[in-house]
Order: sequence, then C-alpha cells, then structure tokens
Amino acid sequence: MEPIDYEKKLKELEKTVRTLKKKLERSEADRQQLENVSEVRESILKNVISELEESQIAIKNRGDELEDALKNLKTLQMKLVESEKMSALGVMVAGIAHEINNPVNFIYGNLNYAQQYFQDLLRLIVLYQKYYPEPALEIKKEIEVIELEFIKKDLDKLFQSMTVGAERISEIVKSLRTFSRLDEAEFKSVDIHEGIDSTLVILNNRLKLPAANLPEIKVIKNYGKLPSIKCYAGQMNQVFMNIIVNAIDALESSLLKAAKTDTGQSITHHPEIQIKTGITDNNWVEIRIADNGIGMDEKVRTKLFDPFFTTKAVGKGTGLGLAISYQIIIELHGGKLECYSEPGKGAEFMIQIPIR
Ligand SMILES: Nc1ncnc2c1ncn2[C@@H]1O[C@H](COP(=O)(O)OP(=O)(O)O)[C@@H](O)[C@H]1O
Ligand SMILES: [Mg+2]
Repeated sequence: MEPIDYEKKLKELEKTVRTLKKKLERSEADRQQLENVSEVRESILKNVISELEESQIAIKNRGDELEDALKNLKTLQMKLVESEKMSALGVMVAGIAHEINNPVNFIYGNLNYAQQYFQDLLRLIVLYQKYYPEPALEIKKEIEVIELEFIKKDLDKLFQSMTVGAERISEIVKSLRTFSRLDEAEFKSVDIHEGIDSTLVILNNRLKLPAANLPEIKVIKNYGKLPSIKCYAGQMNQVFMNIIVNAIDALESSLLKAAKTDTGQSITHHPEIQIKTGITDNNWVEIRIADNGIGMDEKVRTKLFDPFFTTKAVGKGTGLGLAISYQIIIELHGGKLECYSEPGKGAEFMIQIPIR
C-alpha cells in the first residue's frame, strides 16, 4: 500500500511541478511581453519628445526670422520714407534757391548804382545850394518838409543796411544750394566746413531766437585744417543738421527744466554749441559737435541710434534723425559715429570718416 501511495504522490507532485513550471514560463513570457511593450512605449515617447523639441526649435527659429524680417522691413521703410522726404525737400529747396537767386541779384546788382545816383543827386543839390543860397520860398518849405539834412545823413546808413540785407539773402540762397547739393554729382570732393557753415546759416533762426526765452545760443567754431573730403555732401550736411538740431533741442529743454525747478537766477545758463574739426592720428577726418544742454542717461544713450527711439513729444521727435545719421556715416562712408554724454552734462557727438 505504501509504495503505491508514494508513487502516486510523486506523480502528483511532478504534475504540480510541471504546472507550476508552465505557469512560471507563462508569466515569464507575460513579463517579457510587458517589458517589450513598455520599451516600445518608451521609445515612442522619446520620439515624440524629440519631435516636439525639434518643432519647438523650428518655431523659435521661425520667430527669430520673422522678427529679423520685421526689423529689416521697418528699417527699409524708414529709409524709404526719409530718402523720399529728403529728395522731395532737396528738390524744393533747390527750386526755391534758384527762384530767389535771380531777383536777389537784380536788387544786389543795382544797389550800387542806386547809391551812386542818389549821391550824385545830393551833390547836385549841394552845388545848387552853393550858387543859389537863397532859394524861392516854395523850395525852402520843401527842403524842410522832406528834411533834407536828415536824408543826407541817413542815406548812407540806409543803403548800407539794404546791402547787408541783400548780401544776407544771397548767403542764405547759397547755403540752401550747398545744403541740398542737388546741382552736384553725388560722391565728390567737398569742403566739410562749408557744409557745416551752410547748415548753421539755415538753422540761424533757431540759434538766435530759441524757444523759452533762452538766451541766444553761442556757436563756437574750432576748425582745424582739413583737406577736401570725398563724400556724399548732401547726406553729410543732413547729418550735421540732425545733430545740431538735437543740440538746440537739448539746450532748450535744459532751460525749460531750469525754469521749472525755479532755483532762481542762480542758474546762469550760457547755451553753447562747440564744433571742432581736425584730423586723427590714423588720418581720418573728425568732427565733434558738443552742447551743454540736458545731456542723457545711460538708458537713452544705448538706444540713441535705434530707429524710432525718441524722448521728445509726439509731433516734435520722430526718432529718425540719429538712426539716419548712423546709416549715412557708418554704411555710406565707412566711418564712426559716437556719443558721449551724462545727465546734466551736455552731450558730444563724434563723427569720423576715412579720407579717400
Ligand atoms: N544733444 C543731445 N542731448 C540730449 N539728448 C539727445 C541729444 N541728441 C539726441 N538726444 C536723444 O536722442 C533721441 C533720439 O534723437 P533723434 O534720433 O534725433 O530723434 P528725435 O530728435 O526725433 O527725438 C532724442 O529724443 C533725445 O532723447
Ligand atoms: Mg533729432
């Protein structure tokens, strides 16, 4: 009885072991399968993540490209608007200068003759008075009415001031022509000082009668010896104009500010613009334009040459002056344009261009 039982038990045990083994195998297979599935999942996830990352980078690049394109577009638009404006202004200025030139020449050319004729007539009257010291009553009365003695004295002064006036108009006309430079080839040899001076003549009214009861702005010229420079003269004048106008604005603001803080008359503001020219050690032309106006802080100074950057009121500032100047000096002439300034200590702009 016993051995059979053993055998039977053994068989049963074997069977159990087999079943267990099978179960184990199956669960091993399941585990393997599960592992495989999770591996697949993981790799899919990784792919998805890397694809996501890639597309994120692509989007960012695209964004950068778009931003660049927008910036370029803005600059281009600015250049277009400005060059359009400048050429329209240039044509107008040159036209006006031309139209005024002729009539002014009539006046200026004939003033000498007119003075000569008047003097001749006066001499004739003196001669009459010498030989006919006792004229008829009517003549005597007329001499009193027209105040002959006064006329004699005043006539010279009168002609003098007329001559000065006519000369001044000629000078302005000449400056307008120099400034617009339409009558000349684009890239040519010019006298830089002539360009600066013509710009100052055009701005004369703002220098003499600045806003806000500012005392007359003194322009101190410190011109060195310069050879004639090959450059785009009209555009260079545009740069001088932009920088000098900014200097005038800065001087006006500093007086307005002083009036507001109202620290009394202790502020003796002597508004000044200094213009210095010379040659640098590496043989470049250097022009420095400095004012003693409000100056600017670091924040403004770093944005100075950005298109559309302005601290001025709407309608007063466009924020284009220095951006355009930068392009003209750096891109057109291969030069340098820098600004040194601190709040309350004025500003200095340095232009350097290579001599060709
Ligand atoms: N001489 C200066 N003194 C103080 N600030 C200046 C001077 N020149 C320029 N700036 C500053 O730079 C800004 C940009 O000048 P600009 O490009 O000519 O544009 P806009 O004159 O139309 O404002 C001005 O708004 C001003 O804040
Ligand atoms: Mg300006």
